[in-house]
Amino acid sequence: MTIQDEIAKRRTFAIISHPDAGKTTLTEKLLLYGNLIRSAGTVKGKKSGKFATSDWMDIEKQRGISITSSVMNFPYKNYQVNILDTPGHEDFSEDTYRTLTAVDSVVMIIDSTKGIEPQTIKLFKVARMRGIPIFTFINKLDREGRDSFELLDEIEDILNIQTYPMNWPAGMGKQFLGVFDRYGKQFVQFKGNEEETYIPFEELNEYQDISSNPTFQEAEETLQLVEEAGNEFSLEDVLAGEQTPVFFGSAIAPFGVEVFFNTFLTMAPPPGPRKSTEGIIQPNNSDFSGFIFKIQANMNPAHRDRVAFIRVCSGKFERGMSVQLARTGKNMKLSQSQQFIASSRETVEEAYAGDIIGIYDPNIYRIGDTLIEGKQAFEYDELPKFPPEIFKKVTAKNVMKSKQYKKGIEQLVQEGAIQLFKRNRTEEYILGAVGELQFEVFQARMKEEYHVDVLFESIGERIPRWLKKEQVDDSLFDERNMLVRDREDNNLVLFKNDFSLRWFQDKHPKIELIDLFDVN
Ligand code: G4P
Repeated sequence: MTIQDEIAKRRTFAIISHPDAGKTTLTEKLLLYGNLIRSAGTVKGKKSGKFATSDWMDIEKQRGISITSSVMNFPYKNYQVNILDTPGHEDFSEDTYRTLTAVDSVVMIIDSTKGIEPQTIKLFKVARMRGIPIFTFINKLDREGRDSFELLDEIEDILNIQTYPMNWPAGMGKQFLGVFDRYGKQFVQFKGNEEETYIPFEELNEYQDISSNPTFQEAEETLQLVEEAGNEFSLEDVLAGEQTPVFFGSAIAPFGVEVFFNTFLTMAPPPGPRKSTEGIIQPNNSDFSGFIFKIQANMNPAHRDRVAFIRVCSGKFERGMSVQLARTGKNMKLSQSQQFIASSRETVEEAYAGDIIGIYDPNIYRIGDTLIEGKQAFEYDELPKFPPEIFKKVTAKNVMKSKQYKKGIEQLVQEGAIQLFKRNRTEEYILGAVGELQFEVFQARMKEEYHVDVLFESIGERIPRWLKKEQVDDSLFDERNMLVRDREDNNLVLFKNDFSLRWFQDKHPKIELIDLFDVN
């Protein structure tokens, strides 16, 4: 098989959702199709217990679990499927966002009883920023949910993306009859068990029991409205991330999942070209290249190894190969490589564009690092910075340890574990993170690796907005709207809440407040 064939069959994607929308359930079903697990319910021990924030061993366990389920890969039909996990509960962090820089498309799950929820919006924005295709699965149709038109409107209004329903539901909850598969031109009948019946549209009138049902007839009428007044399907817009194909179904039944998956796989793109400092790099370029999007530290002091996750972007990876670390120009031998599947780590011998491999990190890699084979030196585009939401003042418990303290902070911040800000005037250190877990990991690693106890003083959730250099005026800010500097010496304001932000904006309309996350 040529490199081109290997690339063409790969589909690398992430499933994004707000907690409880059904990500785990859907993932399990996809793994079942890939024969990766025998029965659903074994993906991860999410519900097997929350970890206490103080207990390091528990975090370790939690992270252990998330390491093994970080990437799930399996062959399905003619495809090689790579699903990247995006932690969504207690361990939501900047890593969750960064994972989305390593995929070629995303599947967004929406709970039909709830609609768009906050975490969906955040993750959606990152996918949107990258311009990758977004497929939507509206879940839990077996329950009384919200009106389908209303849900589509909400997606269009809140997320600012066109929708195209690939299928259309007939009823919901107890009245749920199935979906009209517009793409496959068939009615998929829901029977309440794991069975699905596929009836081609032209044969529907032979099924009197279905076609005479008022719920079915009503759905036929609303489908007519969709056909007449809805958006036109455009694969081009889908691939540009401007239109999202929407599927209705039930992950738990499972219903509509197989149709969704098959359609998704035909439409979702294989790995494509990526931007680098030396121009566009094609995935079939004969030299191996990839970038590190995540580093996971093993917190066990007995073996403090770390795993760096590489997204392969071109060429062929072979275990033991020598590559160059573009940042330093140093040559490295990639001997300890792992690929991750749902239940165990396996040594990987070869990998192609779209694949994710884990390599042993003797503390030299950084998030965003490019690894390349061959003479041409280039680096992939820098990973975007994601605005933190939670902020804490940080100090060393023992002032005598200030040297180690500064060194530790410097290194952990550089590694991308957490973001550092300095308060204007007072020069206080403020740490910012996307999720609480990042603070816990930071605190534990400062103790383990630098022998410094750190103290946090929470300043709560804040809304960061960057300022233009010429518009910085110290006198306008205080504890509520705090002026700080980031590592590149850019000024930003940490607004106490939405209200303070709007109030400030009204009062100083000329000051431009820059939202790093503004994608519209
Ligand atoms: P998450 O990973 O996105 O957080 O969600 P997860 O799959 O764990 O699903 C959250 C809850 O929603 C689970 O119920 C799950 O069984 C349920 N669920 C998922 N898909 C469907 C669906 O299509 N229909 C219905 N009715 N429920 C669905 P739970 O009670 O919280 O957990 P469990 O006791 O069932 O495991």
